[in-house]
Amino acid sequence: MDNTRVFNSGTMDYIPSDVKGTSVLRRLYLILNHCVKFGLSPIVGCFSYFLKLCRCNWGPKCIAGHVVLVTGGANGIGRELCLKLAKEKCRIAIVDINLEAAEQTVEDIRQLGVEAKAYHADVTDYDAILKIRMKIQEDFQSSVDILINNVGLVPLLTLSRATKEQIERMMAVNVTSTMLITKLFMEDMVKQGRGHIVATSSAFSLAPGSTVDGVTAFAVRGFMANLRQEILINNWEDMIKTTTTYPYYTTTRKELTDYLEKIKVLKEMFLADVTNVANSTVKAIKWEKENLTIPNGFYLLMIFMGNFPSTVTRRFYRMAFGRSSNFP
Ligand SMILES: NC(=O)c1ccc[n+]([C@@H]2O[C@H](COP(=O)([O-])OP(=O)(O)OC[C@H]3O[C@@H](n4cnc5c(N)ncnc54)[C@H](O)[C@@H]3O)[C@@H](O)[C@H]2O)c1
Repeated sequence: MDNTRVFNSGTMDYIPSDVKGTSVLRRLYLILNHCVKFGLSPIVGCFSYFLKLCRCNWGPKCIAGHVVLVTGGANGIGRELCLKLAKEKCRIAIVDINLEAAEQTVEDIRQLGVEAKAYHADVTDYDAILKIRMKIQEDFQSSVDILINNVGLVPLLTLSRATKEQIERMMAVNVTSTMLITKLFMEDMVKQGRGHIVATSSAFSLAPGSTVDGVTAFAVRGFMANLRQEILINNWEDMIKTTTTYPYYTTTRKELTDYLEKIKVLKEMFLADVTNVANSTVKAIKWEKENLTIPNGFYLLMIFMGNFPSTVTRRFYRMAFGRSSNFP
């Protein structure tokens, strides 16, 4: 019997060709397939969580005194993360393209009696990041213990409306820089025998959002999943931890918030709060949680959305976002 590949809402299923030819049987097959997936996902999830619990330490790790590098710490989620980490007595280094705003965050951190320093750079400038790595070593007399790849552009761009330059810039800022900065600081973490790498993806890496942003979010999620694999293969898993965060739409910049409020479904649902995102992220770091959706329950919702038959998801997206004129 020859098998034919059928693509269905992002998953790849093998359907025997004789089943494919019979529409009622094919429908039955799909219904059964989805029932099994829905039934199994929570069971597998609970089981793997239980296994993890058996292996991990019974308590959060202490991060006081750790040097944390936060990219994009001048505004939004990054700024809030810096303040929360400062309350945990971490020493904070900020890299941001907006030095003036980054200096303000540093000022606010120092008010909490914590050491902090701002460095001016575009995260896509590899040579500048190399120099900052040395400066951090001099200024803090230590390598970076926790790297937070937070910088990311969120212009909610669809492919048809984005220019070539915008697409290239998005890939450089959101994806390439995350990989290169991680590569650089992971070397130090391996040498010093400890480290934690955090990357901000988006809830829209678990189910589709707008095309260009969505691709970068999927890429960051994929990068972190593969990085975990590399850490495992190298036997570094006891010293280097990773956390990937998937925030839902968050109230950060005014333009973004104003725009989001225009989208039908968001008005009726909610936007995530920046303090909540920062608090959950720091908690996830302390508990060495590998994946964090904000709000929490979104993980299951997004996974379910990704596994619903496409007729259901199409209806949901149409209901939520209306026609394409709702996108910028
Ligand atoms: N806000 C949301 O709705 C939302 C949703 C999901 C994921 N995220 C992700 O969260 C992260 C933070 O988002 P935000 O809304 O807080 O962003 P923001 O725009 O409020 O802040 C980003 C910060 O990064 C800095 N920055 C931008 N480009 C830079 C560059 N090339 N080099 C150095 N610094 C640069 C900016 O100056 C700013 O301080 C991003 O990775 C974003 O993809 C945000």
